[in-house]
Amino acid sequence: MRRLIKQLFERIERVFDAAFAPAWNPFHHLGALGWYFFWIVLVSGIYLYIFFDTGIVNAYQSIDAITHAQWYAGGVMRSLHRYASDALVVVVFIHIAREWGKDRYRGARWFAWFTGVPVLWFIYICGISGYWLVWDELAQYIAIGTTEWLDTLGIFGEPIARNFLNGEALSDRFFTLMVFVHIMVPLFMLFLMWIHIQRNSYAKINPPTGLAVGTLATMTVLAFVFPALSQAPANLNTVVTSVDLDWFYLAAYPLLDILPGGWLWAGFGAGTVVLALVPWLPRLRRLAPAQVSLPNCNGCARCVADCPFNAIEMHARSDGLAFEQEAVVDADNCVACGVCMGSCPTATPFRRTGGLVAGIELPDFSVAALHAQTLAATEGLHGEARVLIFGCLQGPPIERLAGESVGTVRLRCSGQLPPSFIDFVITRAHADGVIVAGCRAGDCHYRLGGQWARARLAATRDPQLRARVPRARFEQVWVGSSGGNQLQQALAQLRERLRTLGAYRRAEATAARRKSEHA
Ligand code: HEM
Ligand code: SF4
Ligand code: SF4
Repeated sequence: MRRLIKQLFERIERVFDAAFAPAWNPFHHLGALGWYFFWIVLVSGIYLYIFFDTGIVNAYQSIDAITHAQWYAGGVMRSLHRYASDALVVVVFIHIAREWGKDRYRGARWFAWFTGVPVLWFIYICGISGYWLVWDELAQYIAIGTTEWLDTLGIFGEPIARNFLNGEALSDRFFTLMVFVHIMVPLFMLFLMWIHIQRNSYAKINPPTGLAVGTLATMTVLAFVFPALSQAPANLNTVVTSVDLDWFYLAAYPLLDILPGGWLWAGFGAGTVVLALVPWLPRLRRLAPAQVSLPNCNGCARCVADCPFNAIEMHARSDGLAFEQEAVVDADNCVACGVCMGSCPTATPFRRTGGLVAGIELPDFSVAALHAQTLAATEGLHGEARVLIFGCLQGPPIERLAGESVGTVRLRCSGQLPPSFIDFVITRAHADGVIVAGCRAGDCHYRLGGQWARARLAATRDPQLRARVPRARFEQVWVGSSGGNQLQQALAQLRERLRTLGAYRRAEATAARRKSEHA
């Protein structure tokens, strides 16, 4: 089931990658879009509140005036408020399906999932209480349905549905309470959304400008073409016979007409508990967390800057070495992606003294193991254009390209690869060229590994791929697990180039370095 969902997302996202370019692909920014829609709802809500009359008698008229008298401002704000709320529901459900389908919610990543679940309830409380405030027939239908449903809990001394028996029974006080709920719940929700992203470093909470402007422009056009309108005014002395539902928020209401309220509570309660426990159904087999080797750690804090899961902190030095700080891993947060190993300046295959141990590395996939695998994969290669492919676990299938002149090494994440390994393979002539293959840009399984890898290879982030490495001998392929064909093409192109370049010679390194110095 999960594989199916994953493949479905891969396919759709490829289409969107082509249409929007990976940087603007909305699927890569679902959480950020959720935040963005929240802000739109908040700002438009503040505007509406300025003109809204919070009393039961004038609520409907005040909203009608906002909609019609100032259709160009208040009307647009009202529509943005509604459409952004609907869009929030849509992106959040796709967000949940995507994180689940791509298996990014288990093991040390349980926290974001678990804290996301209550956010769902808050979204619905905000949306439902908002429809209530319009005080039209839809609001009447919701008010009666909701209060009768709440009464089935049996926790209120007086049944609250009594407030809606007739026009005289409903007090301004109760209505003001609803306004209060509609304003306070989003603030709690904001707090929860903040908690939700605490374990992710550099969490993406702002969509790229193009996507933000595009979605806002689309909703504004919608606001003019299909403005959000009220239904007939509420009248508690009549029975509502038909209403237009907002299916994003109110889809469960028709169920209230056919099922006992208690059943629905049981259903939603059980659904919430099961959803919250999903990260443990089944639980992920945890891999050994990253380990710091103090004699090799110089306290540079590169690993802290690069860890995508806030799993490393710098503490005062505890071993007497002449550095101020040392890295300390929080094993509970560590997903064992190895990105820290790729960032550590001491993770290099060139080291001679002290063996190949880095300041930080994965115990079950250390620098020494990567070194050994690199040598084993290149050892028997022959032919005129020998290539070594480093590919991440979630990237394209590299093994089926292995052959007499192509070797492969699987990394846990492309960000695990210290750039010095590419230098090592090429300048020590273990192969004539290197390919690094990984997840599509913006879709790294470990959030930031691919981004850091690209920056290191472009020499814009430390540790950088050294200038002496001839770039013509090196290729990057960011295509995800379904990009086998693209990888094959990139390999063919690189090998073609390598054939014209011939075997690597030291003079080429000097020329490459000079070229980069003059660039
Ligand atoms: C208003 C609702 C929500 C918003 C605004 C939101 C926003 C976000 C953001 C900004 C991120 C970080 C993305 C990144 O930088 O990688 C994220 C990650 C995540 N969210 Fe949500 N989220 C919401 C609801 C939910 C819900 C309801 C669930 C699940 C029940 C959920 C599950 C996750 C998971 C599993 C991650 C990934 C953590 C990881 O990569 O390790 N979110 N969310
Ligand atoms: S990157 Fe390496 S050397 Fe720098 S603080 Fe982290 S473990 Fe220590
Ligand atoms: S392996 Fe390193 S980068 Fe990855 S989560 Fe653990 S400490 Fe952070």
